[in-house]
Amino acid sequence: MLENHFGEEVAARYDESSADMFDPAVLEPTVAFMAQLAGDGAALELGIGTGRIALPLSERGVRVVGIDLSESMVAKLREKPGAERIEVAIGDFATTRVEGTFSLAYLVFNTIGNLTTQDAQVACFQNTAAHLEPGGCFVIELGVPGLRTLPPCERVQVFDFSEDHIGIDEYDVVNQGLVSHHLSPREGAWELLSMPFRYAWPAELDLMARLAGMTLRERWSGWNREPFTSESTKHVSVWENVSSAM
Ligand SMILES: C[S@@+](CC[C@H](N)C(=O)[O-])C[C@H]1O[C@@H](n2cnc3c(N)ncnc32)[C@H](O)[C@@H]1O
Repeated sequence: MLENHFGEEVAARYDESSADMFDPAVLEPTVAFMAQLAGDGAALELGIGTGRIALPLSERGVRVVGIDLSESMVAKLREKPGAERIEVAIGDFATTRVEGTFSLAYLVFNTIGNLTTQDAQVACFQNTAAHLEPGGCFVIELGVPGLRTLPPCERVQVFDFSEDHIGIDEYDVVNQGLVSHHLSPREGAWELLSMPFRYAWPAELDLMARLAGMTLRERWSGWNREPFTSESTKHVSVWENVSSAM
């Protein structure tokens, strides 16, 4: 049974706690990137959440359909202006089908990692490919596993240390597991939120795409098409559906 890590409490604070990701400097190039790939077609967002990308993309005239496991996240989306234009199916994006075909599908903000088994990640690529038109694109935004900077025999890595957030990644290198621990001050105490992920290298995702009839078209380190290099800590990858059968 798939666990929902975005229940009511997380949903209530999501936009505020992810404020950096709502910054126009992040959001505008992301939405422009998606709008260009969607062209005249429709877009499918896997893990649509509170509509951070879907709402501004739909404002640009792209029809957006979403899938999300969390009723609470989608309820937050529904409170926002423009939400009436967006259709959302509640379910697991590795298996849930929605009607129609899409020129673009996207899964951002490390969310492929919320699927914690290889089977589920492979199923997600296959489910996505089944929604794409021939030539349609699948975009993923994902961190590069931080193993190059993890000293031998260590399993934890502090990735943020500030007054209002301490972030620690805990690696399980045998199972490609990663638990992200977030400590935030709340009502005079530090509150801990821990979320499990499965990390994957870009090459493993390329293979999953290939199994699903897609091929790598572009890989960048950011939404402004910055080059992806050995120093990049994240990637924005675009695979194209090259199968002709729908
Ligand atoms: C980090 S949030 C990202 C939300 C939005 N895409 C954004 O960029 O702000 C991840 C979202 O994916 C959803 N999610 C995680 N695993 C899922 C799954 N297997 N199926 C459907 N939705 C899932 C969560 O409920 C949550 O809304």
